[in-house]
Amino acid sequence: MQVFQRQLLIYTLFLLVIVTIASRSCNIRKVTSHGIDGFVCVCNATYCDTLDDFKVLPGQVITYTSSAGGSRFRPARYDYHNNRLNDGPIATIVINTTQELQTIKGFGAAFTDAAGINLLKLVPAAQEKLLEAYFDPIKGIGYTIGRVPIGSTDFSTRIYSYDDVEKDFKLQNFKLADEDFKLKIPIVKRAQKFASNLSLFGSPWSPPAWMKTAKTQQGKSGLIGDLDGPYYTSWALYFGKFLQEYERNNISFWAITIQNEPSGCYSWQCLLLNGTQEAGFVRKHLRSTIDNAGFKNVQIIANDDARSELLDVTHAFAKDRDAAKLIDGFGTHWYSIANFSLLVEAHDTFPDKFILPTEACNGYQHGQHGAYLGSWVRGVKYAKDIIGNLNAWAVGWVDWNFCLDELGGPNWAGNVVDAPIITNNTEFYKQPMYYVLGHFSRFLSPGSVIVPSVVRNAEGVETASGVTPNGNTILVVLNNKNSTQPLKIVDVVAENEFVLKVEADSITTVVWKSSPKKM
Ligand SMILES: *[C@@H]1O[C@H](CO)[C@@H](O)[C@H](O)[C@H]1NC(C)=O
Ligand SMILES: *[C@@H]1O[C@H](CO)[C@@H](O)[C@H](O)[C@H]1NC(C)=O
Ligand SMILES: *[C@@H]1O[C@H](CO)[C@@H](O)[C@H](O)[C@H]1NC(C)=O
Ligand SMILES: *[C@@H]1O[C@H](CO)[C@@H](O)[C@H](O)[C@H]1NC(C)=O
Ligand SMILES: *[C@@H]1O[C@H](CO)[C@@H](O)[C@H](O)[C@H]1NC(C)=O
Ligand SMILES: *[C@@H]1O[C@H](CO)[C@@H](O)[C@H](O)[C@H]1NC(C)=O
Ligand SMILES: *[C@@H]1O[C@H](CO)[C@@H](O)[C@H](O)[C@H]1NC(C)=O
Ligand SMILES: *[C@@H]1O[C@H](CO)[C@@H](O)[C@H](O)[C@H]1NC(C)=O
Repeated sequence: MQVFQRQLLIYTLFLLVIVTIASRSCNIRKVTSHGIDGFVCVCNATYCDTLDDFKVLPGQVITYTSSAGGSRFRPARYDYHNNRLNDGPIATIVINTTQELQTIKGFGAAFTDAAGINLLKLVPAAQEKLLEAYFDPIKGIGYTIGRVPIGSTDFSTRIYSYDDVEKDFKLQNFKLADEDFKLKIPIVKRAQKFASNLSLFGSPWSPPAWMKTAKTQQGKSGLIGDLDGPYYTSWALYFGKFLQEYERNNISFWAITIQNEPSGCYSWQCLLLNGTQEAGFVRKHLRSTIDNAGFKNVQIIANDDARSELLDVTHAFAKDRDAAKLIDGFGTHWYSIANFSLLVEAHDTFPDKFILPTEACNGYQHGQHGAYLGSWVRGVKYAKDIIGNLNAWAVGWVDWNFCLDELGGPNWAGNVVDAPIITNNTEFYKQPMYYVLGHFSRFLSPGSVIVPSVVRNAEGVETASGVTPNGNTILVVLNNKNSTQPLKIVDVVAENEFVLKVEADSITTVVWKSSPKKM
């Protein structure tokens, strides 16, 4: 009898009621890409799957699940009673909502020329659906960050700068490019109609060729001369001019990064700067120049490079304390080693500065270039990276191109990669990566506070958790195992426990109210 009651307790605590929280569901198209079966959600001018608003009441748990097996933000609502489980699965996730860590700034992607080109090839109504899918806080996945390249990148169709007049140190010939007026400014404004508080940050790939030792924007070279010379002064001015020109077009920036990937130049646009030079450049030029241009509130982000470079840069700033006072955070890119201890160490060196992952994509490696339609595996890679970062002080996560074509471009350098949305003629496809990102971005809204969640005895399970400004507890659970797993979720503050069965190969966002001791 005793045993029977315990069983009953575990399995009846939760009465599953599937509710129609998602207003429109995924229009599935099965695809086989690189020999692997998967599916994408097809959207066009008249149809796209969306989310809907939800409200979780005390005593309820809402879950949204996406899985390799076919779910996309599949909603469920559970009622449960204020009971503690004596028994239940051994696999446990313990969450302490009062142990507050970093505050979320947001999630987002980059407004590259390639993304703009692809977006504008769709008919206008489909373009709006794509922007809504990312930037609408209710129907979409609630992006609040946008990265804007300062000039061209490899994801442009040509190499350009804003001032090609040799030795025009005062930048009297500075002017934005056609790409800014066609592919960036209008699209940023359309995104802002969905996300009114979009935080934009600018990142340069290369100075004009005449400022660089190699006299070309491509490849490994630095600015001409030393830190006190005219080239560094002029390069700082370039940032100020960029901010002013965008301001003239009614677009304000939250931040700039000092330089995209200054350590490892490839064959495309780039500038070499080591940590010591980044610090010196900020201290001698960049901060004061943009202040004088009227942008005292624009924040400065150092590194903006692979995790493997982060500690070299934090050490350089630790040695140059005056420079350190002038920056606000460090950016990291997902390429290279998945060692998140590096972020923890950077945070310990500069606890008052934020760490923001500023670029990520699949399909960048030799032999794996380009878009893999429907790849769940690539979605899992996003999940693991976002979880690893959030549990190591990251204040959000910023993707690379917000959309690419079926080949993963255009990219003038042939460096095609993957993206969460792929466009194709009149349609676009939402990849597993889109949903994985949304499991975090849609729920951990800006101002949410990350709290620790500890996984015990659960194979293939990884989690991240936080509390939103309106008091919802959010737990994102990746089940990277190919079988269903019952998990005991223990909220130590509310002194409550419940059992959740997570689907095989899935990611689930779990939402409940964690008011202490009364759920
Ligand atoms: C858009 O997709 C919907 C749903 O699959 C379909 O009914 C409709 O015909 C499509 N519209 C166009 C223009 O292809
Ligand atoms: C939860 O975290 C708070 C703040 O760190 C701590 O004081 C408290 O002891 C923790 N509760 C449990 C049950 O671990
Ligand atoms: C935008 O930010 C302001 C200031 O932080 C805040 O008061 C407002 O609620 C935000 N609006 C939205 C839609 O998030
Ligand atoms: C910027 O906004 C102002 C005020 O709303 C408006 O008068 C002006 O035309 C806008 N400029 C551009 C370039 O959009
Ligand atoms: C950084 O670059 C400068 C200029 O090339 C060089 O003098 C310095 O030794 C470099 N510092 C490090 C730590 O590599
Ligand atoms: C990860 O980085 C830390 C430095 O923060 C280092 O101590 C550790 O050895 C690294 N681990 C691996 C596996 O590289
Ligand atoms: C892309 O569109 C073309 C033409 O409309 C079509 O033949 C092709 O199958 C589409 N790709 C996918 C993945 O559906
Ligand atoms: C599940 O994964 C295990 C271990 O990786 C593997 O041996 C097994 O074949 C997989 N089962 C299915 C149904 O894919």
